[in-house]
Amino acid sequence: MDLANNPYTPGAGKPPPALVGRDEQIQEGRVVIARTERGRAADAPILYGLRGVGKTVLLKALQAQASDAGWLTIEIEGKQEGAEQTLTRQRLARGLVASARSVTPRAKSSPKRG
Ligand SMILES: Nc1ncnc2c1ncn2[C@@H]1O[C@H](COP(=O)(O)OP(=O)(O)OP(=O)(O)O)[C@@H](O)[C@H]1O
Ligand SMILES: [Mg+2]
Repeated sequence: MDLANNPYTPGAGKPPPALVGRDEQIQEGRVVIARTERGRAADAPILYGLRGVGKTVLLKALQAQASDAGWLTIEIEGKQEGAEQTLTRQRLARGLVASARSVTPRAKSSPKRG
């Protein structure tokens, strides 16, 4: 088998050589970005489906789309139940701060007096 040219890319979240059959979702992503940038309401996409159907890969494609449009994006995993909810919020907050820092130049420390 020609391993160098084998298009099969097994592995969680590993992007395939061609994102087959996702044109509709990619187009929906474009609409969400365009509407939001115009200050219009847009439904946040929620991806669900059977194990291994391609949720993570599609999510990454949507993330790249948003990043290319100049949006800050962050990647977190979390659960809604009990104490996990607090942890998820903390991860979200930390991710947002880190992402914002990556595009905002740090304030210079004020010169020492005296
Ligand atoms: N649109 C696509 N066309 C071709 N291959 C794809 C596509 N989407 C995903 N794959 C391939 O399918 C495999 C599983 O993709 P992915 O990890 O995104 O699935 P998942 O739904 O997130 O799985 P899980 O439910 O385990 O989290 C990967 O090897 C990936 O390269
Ligand atoms: Mg996944």
